[in-house]
Amino acid sequence: MKKILGIETSCDECSVSVVGSEIIDQHLELSVVACETFSQIDLHKPYGGVVPEIASRNHLEEFLPTLESCLKSAKVNLNEIDAIAVTQRPGLVGALFVGVTAAKTLAYANKIPLIPVHHLEGHVASLFLEISSSKIQFPLLVLLVSGGHTQLLWIENPPETWEQFALKVWRKGTTLDDAAGEAFDKCAKAMGLPYPGGKYIEESAKLGNPNAFDLPKVSKKVDPNSFSFSGLKTAFIQCLNKLTPEEIIQRRNDLSASIQRAILDHLETRLEHAISVFRPKTLAVVGGVSANQELRTRLERLSKSNIDMKVVFPPLQYCTDNAAMIAAVGAYRLHQNQYLPPLSEAALKLNAIPYSDS
Ligand code: KG4
Ligand code: ZN
Repeated sequence: MKKILGIETSCDECSVSVVGSEIIDQHLELSVVACETFSQIDLHKPYGGVVPEIASRNHLEEFLPTLESCLKSAKVNLNEIDAIAVTQRPGLVGALFVGVTAAKTLAYANKIPLIPVHHLEGHVASLFLEISSSKIQFPLLVLLVSGGHTQLLWIENPPETWEQFALKVWRKGTTLDDAAGEAFDKCAKAMGLPYPGGKYIEESAKLGNPNAFDLPKVSKKVDPNSFSFSGLKTAFIQCLNKLTPEEIIQRRNDLSASIQRAILDHLETRLEHAISVFRPKTLAVVGGVSANQELRTRLERLSKSNIDMKVVFPPLQYCTDNAAMIAAVGAYRLHQNQYLPPLSEAALKLNAIPYSDS
């Protein structure tokens, strides 16, 4: 079994993981040996969002203790690690820089191959952490819904044939403005709920009426493969402006249920269209928002009306940012011999890149 050390510091989670990988019946099977994550959410909460300078300084403080505790729970030493996979892009540059520098140093000192990973590839690969890749049928349509991205991705072939992930994944749609998670977070903040707001909206929505407030329906004028949430957010804030602060508190459950319904209606409408056009064998939903139970229930329902299509989600603990998903990409890359050799110039020169595309 190969052991991959994953490192994720692109935003507000400092995460280190050891993932095991082996080929069973011609499929690369992954198992999470250990995954330790230090979440900075409490540090950023008072500001209602991530403060980049606080994020990078805290990664510096937390990286080594997180690494130590991960290796301890995995019961492995660094000299037993076959490759180090690190989030290289996209993200907050100072935060990424901490992870990339740590990965380069560990790889150099221990002569371990280094694998730079795109954070969004990690979210897609989170699917394979507990579901055997032999159980996922292709072509695969992936809805990636996080705090920074909302994209529809199309993957024709199983990961065994990924030569270079970026070349194998086709982007079929993206958001024109805010991401779905961002819409949850901004609407939650406007109601006085803590950061990050998605899970708080979900919690209060359980006790509210989703039809209590009339919010705009999905626009038919926009390209059906594109997403857009900023109009919805503005309409929601206009709705709040008509209420007193006391009324906002009293009606928080109804407000949460209404905005959650509007965001999920938008995602579901786009997915229904994409399914009818692309006809995937499997629909997967990944990224922080895929933790939303109401979204999961709606998509299970959708799969019942598309009997040739299965719906899959990553395990809940791997929906939000974590290093196991980064190590998962590393496992596929290592299997394809795609890594920066130890002590090579490319490994020494690896740099953090804040943006998503070249
Ligand atoms: O993937 P992720 O951890 O970080 C990014 O790469 O952005 O996603 C974080 C996002 C936040 O916007 C958060 O509010 C949202 O995922 N989120 C949720 C839920 N849990 C996390 N949104 C809706 N319902 C949830 N249960
Ligand atoms: Zn993410």
